[in-house]
Amino acid sequence: MIKLEHVSKSYSAGVPALNDISLHIEEGEFVFVVGNSGSGKSTLIKLLLKELEPTSGMITINGRNLNGIRRKQIPRYRRNVGVVFQDFRLLKDRNVYENVAFAQRVIGVGPRKIRSSVPMMLSMVGLAAKYKSYPKQLSGGEQQRVAIARALINQPKILLADEPTGNLDGHNAWEIMKLLEEINQRGTTVVVVTHNMDIVKAMKKRVITVKKGIIVSDDKLGEQ
Ligand SMILES: Nc1ncnc2c1ncn2[C@@H]1O[C@H](COP(=O)(O)OP(=O)(O)O)[C@@H](O)[C@H]1O
Ligand SMILES: [Mg+2]
Repeated sequence: MIKLEHVSKSYSAGVPALNDISLHIEEGEFVFVVGNSGSGKSTLIKLLLKELEPTSGMITINGRNLNGIRRKQIPRYRRNVGVVFQDFRLLKDRNVYENVAFAQRVIGVGPRKIRSSVPMMLSMVGLAAKYKSYPKQLSGGEQQRVAIARALINQPKILLADEPTGNLDGHNAWEIMKLLEEINQRGTTVVVVTHNMDIVKAMKKRVITVKKGIIVSDDKLGEQ
């Protein structure tokens, strides 16, 4: 599903941001990626989104070698990979419904399909009643739910989350992690970068620890 083979990424001469990473994530897994700031976690996410090219090595997603995807094909590739960020990145001048519907409109989904799928997705993330609200009328946790709904509306096989709870208080952080777990249980492969070690320890999932661009541990014990 997600396979990295000897992947390195250097932004400039000197210490690479990622240094000879090899990693397998199977379909249906839930994986945490942890590590200090600057250790290369966001670089890893950007490589998986094909926002960055590796300096060397090979990345395969859903059986596809990312090196072989041409620039014009990148938008189509990204439909298979949902992503959420710490800062939500919602469209501020559009309401909840429109934020989610927009992701379908831009890829040419018809209005009838949008009218049925958006409410379904909003109720899955617990926001059915707030479909008319604008981002600034929502709490951080609610905004992140909208971002998750938008990331999932086109049914990607993989959801990437780069510090999705970084702007949330403890209660909302838990709620969002539980939602990500539920999404995983429905079949989506989920990769979560986080600093929230209390939650990581409690959730007992696979934990990949990155330090200065190297995987220093890959603890799958949580699954047993
Ligand atoms: N666009 C960039 N240009 C140059 N260096 C970068 C860039 N983005 C990240 N880096 C460097 O790469 C390293 C890893 O960064 P990053 O992947 O953002 O780490 P993390 O997400 O774990 O905090 C850091 O040393 C950072 O300064
Ligand atoms: Mg980061």
